[in-house]
Amino acid sequence: MNIINNVRQLRSWSSINRGTRCVFVPTMGALHEGHAALIRAARELAGQSGNVVVSIFVNPLQFGPNEDFSKYPRTLVEDLAICRDNGADAIFAPKADDLYLPDRSIQLFETSLSKTLCGASRPGHFDGVCTVVAKLFNLVQCDEAVFGKKDYQQLAIIRRMVRDLDFNIVIHGIDTVREADGLAMSSRNRYLSADERAQAPVLRAALLKAREAYIKGGERDGKVLRQMILDQIAAEAPLGRVDYVEVVDASTLQTPTETTELVAIAVAVFFGSARLIDNIELK
Ligand code: PAF
Repeated sequence: MNIINNVRQLRSWSSINRGTRCVFVPTMGALHEGHAALIRAARELAGQSGNVVVSIFVNPLQFGPNEDFSKYPRTLVEDLAICRDNGADAIFAPKADDLYLPDRSIQLFETSLSKTLCGASRPGHFDGVCTVVAKLFNLVQCDEAVFGKKDYQQLAIIRRMVRDLDFNIVIHGIDTVREADGLAMSSRNRYLSADERAQAPVLRAALLKAREAYIKGGERDGKVLRQMILDQIAAEAPLGRVDYVEVVDASTLQTPTETTELVAIAVAVFFGSARLIDNIELK
């Protein structure tokens, strides 16, 4: 496995590997079983003859002033072991000043999909995500890239960016990996106290119940589905502080309309300083 620490090395690795199918897994490190599943999916897509590249970069641009950039877990040694064990060929782990020059003056702005859900409470977050992912796409020169479906809004925005900026890259969404009790795996789960951890699976439980009401019970009123979820969180997770519960059109992330093909529900709940997200498609 090649470990590449700067842009110059990556460019020379990419030119040596030109012509070899490349599948890319962008991450911010603090890897867990969810990322391992992304790397394995990339390995499968690349086949034995292709390359799987994983980036590990905590992107300062996507953190707000009061967010956890400096506290974000950095676990490079363990991350490299996970990458190796799951079949990565190359790791790109640059320093921030290698990727962002002090006088840089150009970045991306997303003006629609990022205005709801997580974007509403994290202004600028998805502009930072788009900027770094576009830079990484240009540097890694991949044919395909994999993203977790847990970050539902991020996946929709990356698909839109690829469409709108004509990146010739196929994007794959990979199912969320969960703990045995249903809690979605996340680097932020490590911040939970024992009591918070015990209550956090309510996100998944409430989403499953709402899906059942939609599919089996025929409940189509988004306000009713939303209230069901809020009630269950209030009853079972008194330590949780709801950021949002939204019933949306899966492709526009806006309120479903008569032309909506797929409805999704997305939730974000704070437990202490950890903001946990989850979602479900109603199909
Ligand atoms: O999902 C993440 O870990 C990050 O948002 C990403 C896509 C690696 C960009 O920094």
